[in-house]
Amino acid sequence: MIGIAIKGHGSATPASPLTNEALSTVVDTSDEWIRSRTGICQRHLAPPDLSLTDLAVQAAQAAIVSCHLQPTDLDLIILATSTPDDLFGSAGLLQHRLGATRAVAFDLTAACSGFLFGLVTAAQFIQTGVYRRVLVVGADMLSRWVDWNDRATCVLFGDGAGAIVLEASTENHLLGFELRTDGTQNPCLNLGYRGSAQRLTENIVISQGTYQPVTMNGKEVYRFAVQQVPEVLEKALFRAGLTIAEVDWLLLHQANQRILDAVAERLHIPAAKVLSNLAHYGNTSAATIPLMLDEAIRAGQVKPGDTIAASGFGAGLSWGAAIFRYG
Ligand code: ACO
Repeated sequence: MIGIAIKGHGSATPASPLTNEALSTVVDTSDEWIRSRTGICQRHLAPPDLSLTDLAVQAAQAAIVSCHLQPTDLDLIILATSTPDDLFGSAGLLQHRLGATRAVAFDLTAACSGFLFGLVTAAQFIQTGVYRRVLVVGADMLSRWVDWNDRATCVLFGDGAGAIVLEASTENHLLGFELRTDGTQNPCLNLGYRGSAQRLTENIVISQGTYQPVTMNGKEVYRFAVQQVPEVLEKALFRAGLTIAEVDWLLLHQANQRILDAVAERLHIPAAKVLSNLAHYGNTSAATIPLMLDEAIRAGQVKPGDTIAASGFGAGLSWGAAIFRYG
């Protein structure tokens, strides 16, 4: 079987941050409440003239440049997002804007698990010999879909994009993975369509409407994450034939610092090995893992050869883990 290697990495966030103090003038909240319950200090929010595709292009270009490739070298582009500019998908426009003329491109929707599901999907195409170079982008702009009057949700999210380039390799650096879905818990976290009936003819009634802001059962999502994430990480490590002690970095979906701490504690992973940038960006959904990875590599924290245990979790409910070696 052909192996995969992570070659390129990049990220992008909107320029201006909204601090907890500034957010306290919008909804009835406080810096103390947000910081102590979530670890978030600020989030970057996209202005009206910045599209999801714009942000994805910036992250993707940085990833392609970082591994000295040309956009025309790409065979496949997977855009993990729940907030495309176009419900038909934004990957096609991303392909065009990058000039990746040879690449086939599609969107993948799995909320906060989207990037991890995209990474594993990309690996399948490479390992079967179908494609050699794949760009995986995680990008979301949940600021466009939260209710800014709902303090229970709007304080959590930010906008961002992150990207990696995967390449066929003689050595396989995706060491193990495990993906899960539990649709019975779907009502815990939704960004659902709601329409009203519109009669077209005497016999035909259709629905017309739009998507409604994010709804979330915070306590249930917290319970789910703290229970399921350690289990799926252990399963992926088992598949990789590795022990927890052999992991250099724990890279979790950046949803809440308390979730990161609780998962690390359950797995007996020291805090120094837990990657976190929640304080700066909040929860950027599908973007959190590649955004964190890019920052950690650029800061010299994560080095070639390091073993990373990553886990994404979110709406669906869906969750998964992947153990990979960087470089
Ligand atoms: N500011 C001030 N007070 C608030 C705020 C806020 N922003 N939000 C809620 N409160 C109040 C509530 O009204 C409640 O007040 P009451 O006791 O008078 O009724 C009190 O704070 C406690 O509310 P809870 O919802 O019980 O707060 P909890 O301790 O559960 O923390 C939180 C909420 C942070 C959302 C937590 O449940 C959590 O971390 N859940 C995980 C969900 C998550 O991370 N979701 C991210 C999206 S999912 C994903 O990424 C996959």
